[in-house]
Amino acid sequence: MPFTAPFAPVSDSCSEESAPLPVLGRDVRVPLVTGGEVTYGALDYAASAPALQRVWDDVAAYAPYYGSVHRGAGHLSQLSTDLFEQSRRTVAEFLGCREGDQVVFTRATTDSLNLLAAALPSGTRVFVFETEHHASLLPWRAHEVTYLDAPRSPEQAVATLESALHAAPAGPKLVCVTGASNVTGEVWPVRELARAAHRHGARLVLDAAQLAPHRPVRLTELEADWVAFSGHKLYAPFGAGVLAGRADWLCAAEPYLAGGGASRRVARAADGGVDVEWHTTAARHEAGSPNVIGAYAVASACRALAEAGFERLVAREEELLARLVGGLAELPEVRILSLFGADADRVGVVSFVVEGWNSSHLAAALSAEYGIGVRDGLFCAHPLLRTLLGQRGDAPAECGESAGEAPASNAVRVSFGAGTPDEHVDRFVAAVRELVRDGARWTYRTEGGRCVPEPAG
Ligand SMILES: Cc1ncc(COP(=O)(O)O)c(C=O)c1O
Repeated sequence: MPFTAPFAPVSDSCSEESAPLPVLGRDVRVPLVTGGEVTYGALDYAASAPALQRVWDDVAAYAPYYGSVHRGAGHLSQLSTDLFEQSRRTVAEFLGCREGDQVVFTRATTDSLNLLAAALPSGTRVFVFETEHHASLLPWRAHEVTYLDAPRSPEQAVATLESALHAAPAGPKLVCVTGASNVTGEVWPVRELARAAHRHGARLVLDAAQLAPHRPVRLTELEADWVAFSGHKLYAPFGAGVLAGRADWLCAAEPYLAGGGASRRVARAADGGVDVEWHTTAARHEAGSPNVIGAYAVASACRALAEAGFERLVAREEELLARLVGGLAELPEVRILSLFGADADRVGVVSFVVEGWNSSHLAAALSAEYGIGVRDGLFCAHPLLRTLLGQRGDAPAECGESAGEAPASNAVRVSFGAGTPDEHVDRFVAAVRELVRDGARWTYRTEGGRCVPEPAG
């Protein structure tokens, strides 16, 4: 039976559940340190989201037909090449790409932003807020970088950028901004920032690692020049990510990696060296054998989200956010971290601290005693966390010791998405309430900088 349906027909939503899209791992059971086991409460989507069932099915249907891309004469190589290029078109459509924009398949957002950093014309000045994830804060260090202080409102973000750009010397300029914070979940005013950038002759790259799984990201509407995101945060954990946007700087740059696939023609030169003619399409930055399964998985996820409809996904997420934030707000010991204030637009990502608790201790207890997976720490956004926590870089208290009145030096992050049932959020709120009120039932110790439960017995 030939492989003819590159994207499985729309699978039904999980009608028996409250989540809009089925994901893998819904029935996984995990052991509790206190005895017994429970269904895993996956609340760390912002780190890596579970695979959509639909993505998994698409990949499984294609897997027997897997073949090399762009380099084989055989039937399966041709089929795989078509699938890879079709995936590129699907992603371009999902991202509302303009005529002439390129979609480059990368490993993930970090890779995409490093690729763009390597492609900047010489003399480019880069503008980033200190609030960025390290993936969008750090790749630019070979260029002149202006770091902007954390704004306290979307309007202040635009004004801060505008005045920095106004003061900048002539020459190529790039603004890098995150669409939704991986710490606060707050949504940034991307279109207004892009307009401010363009008013001053700058370009803007959008880090959509946290935005794309939750909101429509369309280059035409956001007026961004490039966008980067990761498949594994978009329910497609097969090792691919995307950089999409304007072709000119990408085509003028040296290939990100040198090798086969990026080169159109290579010949010995008269001087004894080699002359290379590089591709001027996305292939220029995709040297080596492409990750066709990863690209196909990303395209499958894009289709699934588009077909589910962001209106519906956003409405559902707002319901869950209200449940979560409302539940935490009943606990006076809990402080939710925010730059823009309680009424800010945010995606399903919430970080908080609990008075008197080392956040690692709380996260360890949520896992060991309640089977709930969240993240703790500084979330690869150290400057932002330091600003939000007002801390002086003190080490967190030892696990199990009360942090007393010292300001918290790390936080807990809970994040969810299209596969999250009500029960996970409700169980999480009930667990935090119980831990804050009664304390942990188990004892924990610090090991390698992390809180771990003491072994039983
Ligand atoms: C806002 C943001 N940008 C970039 C990244 C880096 O993504 P990746 O690790 O997939 O490269 C992350 C990862 O958490 C993120 O949250």
